[in-house]
Amino acid sequence: MIQRQHTIWLLVASVSLIELGIAGCSQKVEKNAKATQATQTSPQPQTEEQKIKCQLDAPYLPTPQNVVEEILKLANVNKGDILYDLGSGDGRVVIAAAQKFGTRGVGVELDPQRIQEANENAQKAGVTNRVRFLQQNLFQTDISKATVVTLYLLPEVNLKLRPKLLSQLKPGTRIVSHEFDMGGWKPQRVVKVLGPKRGENFLYRDESCYTMLVPDEQREHTLYFWVVPKYIPNSLR
Ligand SMILES: C[S@@+](CC[C@H](N)C(=O)[O-])C[C@H]1O[C@@H](n2cnc3c(N)ncnc32)[C@H](O)[C@@H]1O
Repeated sequence: MIQRQHTIWLLVASVSLIELGIAGCSQKVEKNAKATQATQTSPQPQTEEQKIKCQLDAPYLPTPQNVVEEILKLANVNKGDILYDLGSGDGRVVIAAAQKFGTRGVGVELDPQRIQEANENAQKAGVTNRVRFLQQNLFQTDISKATVVTLYLLPEVNLKLRPKLLSQLKPGTRIVSHEFDMGGWKPQRVVKVLGPKRGENFLYRDESCYTMLVPDEQREHTLYFWVVPKYIPNSLR
């Protein structure tokens, strides 16, 4: 039995997913001048659900709805697109694209709780004929049919994903990443969006692996935009 160390972070300044992400499961916690921390030992995950949460490459933190709109705008999403949101959470990006533009979409999500929420949300939004949610690991998903890919993961996850994006996606496929870049693959556009004053992510606690208190502060969200090139430079392979 592996003893897991859980860390409770009290984030006292501007919050970002990178700060939340490093607090997950038994991952090492880096020092952050902006945060105060208290470390405590918690029991090992007991249930299947907890085990799945501990396999996640990024924690769940929903994109505020106004930022979702900007993501779709930046990707120039339209009816003919097939949008894949890798790590789709409650399905909001895929559902918003279907509702607003009639886009077909696929959400890929490892956490069954989020898949259930996404399916319920799609039902409420009346877009079940245009969207589907796959409970699977995004790294093991065939994304070759996508014409638009959206991401809200973590910097190292984006880097790990980059070769897959560049090898599986067709030239011309648009990619938007919320908050994190792709290292040496320079974005074609970077857009800053002010989040809501009181976002849905004001307070977020995930009892099994991630526990975080997100301060009620309006913050700027950064969106990165790329188009998959026809010829992939050696430096990005
Ligand atoms: C920051 S949330 C983003 C949710 C949604 N895309 C949004 O913008 O609101 C990241 C999501 O990725 C999921 N996730 C993390 N690692 C994953 C993996 N390897 N495969 C599939 N989903 C994953 C998490 O469960 C979480 O719901």
